[in-house]
Amino acid sequence: MTHARQHTPHHPIQVIAHRGASDDAPEHTLAAYRKAIEDGADALECDVRLTADGQLVCVHDRRVNRTSNGRGAVSALELSALAALDFGSWKDREESPDWDPVPGELTSVLTLERLLELVVETRAAGRPLQLAIETKHPTRWAGQVEERLLHLLKRYELDTPPADGPSPVRIMSFSARSLHRIQAASPTLPTVYLMQFVSPRLRDGRLPAGARIAGPGLRIVRSNPGYIERLHRAGHRVHVWTVNEPEDVELCARLGVEAIITNRPKQVLSQLGHL
Ligand code: G3P
Ligand code: CA
Repeated sequence: MTHARQHTPHHPIQVIAHRGASDDAPEHTLAAYRKAIEDGADALECDVRLTADGQLVCVHDRRVNRTSNGRGAVSALELSALAALDFGSWKDREESPDWDPVPGELTSVLTLERLLELVVETRAAGRPLQLAIETKHPTRWAGQVEERLLHLLKRYELDTPPADGPSPVRIMSFSARSLHRIQAASPTLPTVYLMQFVSPRLRDGRLPAGARIAGPGLRIVRSNPGYIERLHRAGHRVHVWTVNEPEDVELCARLGVEAIITNRPKQVLSQLGHL
């Protein structure tokens, strides 16, 4: 495995594969994450939800209907029921030139534990891959998502930064309360506050307690580039989601953001190498 990074020194932007290389392979599957690693992504992004039996799985929607051949809420299904579903075949019906359907583990439901194993294996092979984990609907579970998440990170020794480098994992959320819980329990884990819009109390560039990095949506960046400057002036790093089009990559590079979260890591890395 090689790391195909080619940034100019002026744009050392981290490229994070959103749900894996999710343009090319079914989101949140091992197939999508392996493709992202092959493509040279610096980091992987995933969403996590609790199953009915308390396991964390990587699924974006509340229900499995869109991305599998099953139906129902993740929270109402046990892991064994999710494991019987196919999370790949919906993608077979899309026009994805780089996607050749594969059966089995590559397109099964992905547990967070399996994804952590992949990250650990990749790092052990000498590649400093990172993981950005988003807690979904954590308020509903009153701390259980964070508790289980921290337990797993500890088990895989991913909860603290190595002596010679940055933290391998960061936690992202639209919920300031979720980030606060993470920071209180594990202060060395970087936290990213995701924003769909800028709330009036944060307009000056401050972030809620517990949040260390700003995660504005692309719509904010396009409509309010001055806000990105304010975040930087306030001393915050800025990680933007979800940036797929070349003109938006260019805008982010011009504004000097620190990370781009994209469904197309290969294309973004190639463009950044040429900017
Ligand atoms: O990386 C942040 C981004 O994933 C947030 O939006 O809906 O894709 O989880 P969503
Ligand atoms: Ca997400």
